[in-house]
Amino acid sequence: MFQPDKSRYQKMAYRRCGNSGLLLPEISLGLWHNFGGVDVFENGRAMVRHAFDNGITHFDLANNYGPPPGSAEENFGRILKKDFGGYLRDELVISTKAGYHMWNGPYGEWGSRKYLLSSLDQSLKRMKLDYVDIFYSHRPDPDTPMEETMGALASALSSGKALYVGLSNYDATQTLKALDILDQLGIKCLIHQPKYSMFVRDAENGLLDLLKERGVGCIPYSPLAQGLLTDRYLSGIPDNSRAAKSHGFLQKEDVSDDKISRVIQLKTIADQRGQSISQLALAWILRHQNITTVLIGASSVEQLNHNLQTLQNTQFDAAALSAIENILA
Ligand SMILES: NC(=O)c1ccc[n+]([C@@H]2O[C@H](COP(=O)([O-])OP(=O)(O)OC[C@H]3O[C@@H](n4cnc5c(N)ncnc54)[C@H](OP(=O)(O)O)[C@@H]3O)[C@@H](O)[C@H]2O)c1
Repeated sequence: MFQPDKSRYQKMAYRRCGNSGLLLPEISLGLWHNFGGVDVFENGRAMVRHAFDNGITHFDLANNYGPPPGSAEENFGRILKKDFGGYLRDELVISTKAGYHMWNGPYGEWGSRKYLLSSLDQSLKRMKLDYVDIFYSHRPDPDTPMEETMGALASALSSGKALYVGLSNYDATQTLKALDILDQLGIKCLIHQPKYSMFVRDAENGLLDLLKERGVGCIPYSPLAQGLLTDRYLSGIPDNSRAAKSHGFLQKEDVSDDKISRVIQLKTIADQRGQSISQLALAWILRHQNITTVLIGASSVEQLNHNLQTLQNTQFDAAALSAIENILA
């Protein structure tokens, strides 16, 4: 029987999610890679337990995580049952999403009411849960009226199948429209999940400011650019890395000479701070006080543990920030 570390809440800092009542840990764990049917179940289970032991209360999923699609939710459901049964459910914030392709036919992706609400039911069945804490529209749908997609999120709330709702991959203009529609429905968007890292900075073009202004939390995903912003690829592409896996979303060509040369330069700054490259990259995001939590992935307990040490130093002086800007420019 899993006995979580009694001191877990002393090991983590929690930030308020926008203007809501919900606090989230500064680091959250995502189950996109390394928790699917193709992966070693006990490794994923060990990471979830280690995360919780260290104060990570928030676990992020989506209908299609695997591979095969759905298997990460199934495996997470098994972990919940084995280790988190009973009272521990109330100590967890579990999110899922619908938006990308999940099943065949016209109702298996995008943003219709039909798809979103059917998908939520499927996710709950796979995880063997009565409700999720956060249900996201995973991407905007150019062909479905946004009123319909937001209406489906509202129904997820009113049915009790989700406690909060969120948006992911909506740009600033799309987010503004969605927030206005949700306001008209009398619903608050809890959180936005954009891709954001030292290498992917689109969120700085209005989105981060908008979220702050509207009191919406922010949980950046792929903060390590899927592993590029670590020491993983400094001497080639290791066989067990995401870029080497046929089902990994990081492609070999993404590990470019240009990216690696910037990572090597970032390492100098990380060294000066007594941090690793991954710790520098995570701290660089967490320095924004209006970012609620950084959503990492990991393939081992060691990586997760290493990334947790980031929290010992998330402050930057102006000189370090400017040196980083010069490297990223
Ligand atoms: N909303 C969306 O559309 C969306 C899209 C993508 C992701 N997400 C969410 O964001 C989560 C995180 O995404 P991500 O996995 O791409 O995040 P990430 O943190 O940028 O990348 C994680 C990968 O980096 C490598 N890594 C992590 N720590 C390391 C360390 N200390 N040293 C060396 N390598 C290290 C590992 O790669 P190896 O496997 O090679 O070891 C790990 O799998 C996902 O699980 C998901 O929940 C959401």
